[in-house]
Amino acid sequence: MRKASITNLPQMDYSGVEALNTISSNLIFAGRDLKKIVITSCVAGEGKSYLTMHIAQNLAQRGNRVILVDADLRRSFTIRHYGLETTGDWHGLAHFLAGYDELDDVIYSTNYENLYFIPTGRDVANPVQLLDSDHFNEMLDTLSDHFTYVIIDAPPVGLVIDAAEIAKACDGAVLIIEYNKTRRRDIIEAHKQITNAGCPVLGCVINKVTFDSLSAKKYYNRSYYSHYNNNYYYRKDSDKKTTSSKKDKAR
Ligand SMILES: Nc1ncnc2c1ncn2[C@@H]1O[C@H](COP(=O)(O)OP(=O)(O)OP(=O)(O)O)[C@@H](O)[C@H]1O
Ligand SMILES: [Mg+2]
Repeated sequence: MRKASITNLPQMDYSGVEALNTISSNLIFAGRDLKKIVITSCVAGEGKSYLTMHIAQNLAQRGNRVILVDADLRRSFTIRHYGLETTGDWHGLAHFLAGYDELDDVIYSTNYENLYFIPTGRDVANPVQLLDSDHFNEMLDTLSDHFTYVIIDAPPVGLVIDAAEIAKACDGAVLIIEYNKTRRRDIIEAHKQITNAGCPVLGCVINKVTFDSLSAKKYYNRSYYSHYNNNYYYRKDSDKKTTSSKKDKAR
């Protein structure tokens, strides 16, 4: 098997890691039959590749055998952005689908345990013919026999038809939405396209949320997590009684 190193996967901060753990847990508990998962978005630059990389790595870290397939055959930046290195030329999805390589020849093991990678190989002008083929379906089926999760980085569903073609062959889709940017009608349209392809939308990830934005104030300071800041939870039992009796008096 060929080897690749991922040398530049950015570290996430604490809240990012927490959110990532939630996404991975939700995928794991969505069921054992859910193996082929496509990650897409409405428009370009919403963070599909960034999150695909992190989700795949997070699932692999939990002991799952994961293969990340870069299926953005038109303009993938994955190798450049995440500092992927290998010896010799890259062989990838395009080579396999066009019949130049066997599947084994385009799978790379990585420096992350349990994480494997299929790059695009080369950019293709019209990838739809390659993706809309039995060859692509069979490839995903074969991969899902050998890996716990096949995570596919797709182009935006709102711009080109490729993502819908990929979705046809998948068990579920995750839609990335850029906070405060993606338009509601684009989200509805993207959702429609994916479900029309026969692929259930498992959920959406709202990405690039700034910490001082609405969600941080609402969810961290007030409602959901406010009780974690209340040191009542961390007091000894005897102290808790005192606290609750004070509350009783106040009633
Ligand atoms: N949650 C995040 N935190 C920090 N940076 C992010 C986050 N999500 C995305 N980015 C950054 O935003 C930029 C665009 O992300 P990315 O390349 O993953 O988008 P994309 O949806 O794959 O784009 P394209 O449609 O062109 O393939 C990158 O520089 C990436 O590192
Ligand atoms: Mg991308």
